[in-house]
Amino acid sequence: MRRDWEQRARENARYYVATGNEQWSDEEFYQSGVTELEQQVLNDLSNVCQGKDPKDMKVLDIGCGAGRITRALAGFFGQVYAVDISGEMVRQARDALRQFPNAHVFRNNGKDLTVVREHWWNRFGLGKPLQLDFAFSVIVFQHIPSREIIENYVREVNRLLRPGGLFKFQVQGNPHVQQNAEDSWVGVSFTEREAREMAERCGFEMRYDTGAGDQYYWLWFFKQKDAGAFAG
Ligand SMILES: C[S@@+](CC[C@H](N)C(=O)[O-])C[C@H]1O[C@@H](n2cnc3c(N)ncnc32)[C@H](O)[C@@H]1O
Repeated sequence: MRRDWEQRARENARYYVATGNEQWSDEEFYQSGVTELEQQVLNDLSNVCQGKDPKDMKVLDIGCGAGRITRALAGFFGQVYAVDISGEMVRQARDALRQFPNAHVFRNNGKDLTVVREHWWNRFGLGKPLQLDFAFSVIVFQHIPSREIIENYVREVNRLLRPGGLFKFQVQGNPHVQQNAEDSWVGVSFTEREAREMAERCGFEMRYDTGAGDQYYWLWFFKQKDAGAFAG
């Protein structure tokens, strides 16, 4: 996955992030991130914020690419943590976010959130565990060909999210897509039942979903309140 995404990032990062345009201008590219924020976050504030002031919230963006959505998130929320498997995507995202000291972007190993935890421990020590208020991921898991990796991310988010907090993300829902062993573009697909079972195994309640059977299958996973917070 890393090899494929590094290659795509060097060839034309913005195109592979959002294939609607081969020559995104800065303005159009960042505006597309704002539109995504409006459609998926601002339209859904009762689930996302649950009464909290967005400026007091810590949020996570998994698979941040060139920073399109991370930038929009950083303009709205207090602190934003973002990870991506590709070093070149991370370089471009950091560049996009240089005016946003509240955004922290890391290259990760493509399967967990260790880098985010380590960053937090280095800044605040083990005594004050990181607790995220909201986690988000757009057009990332639909590209991950391994069910185990997706489920590992879901577990990892559960460790870091506050009880009741929302992980809103999207997976491949089309059961007819053809995966290619040589290329990581097409991710593994989930039925509604598979998504619900994954939520339960990982300490979440799947309260809503939309787009089952479709390429863009959106899931709302709320951390179960008795699941406990990650303690270090
Ligand atoms: C289509 S882009 C979307 C980027 C961003 N979410 C957006 O909508 O602007 C997918 C991103 O996911 C990243 N990615 C793919 N597999 C990943 C994995 N296993 N872990 C972390 N990031 C991954 C890629 O490097 C790429 O930047």
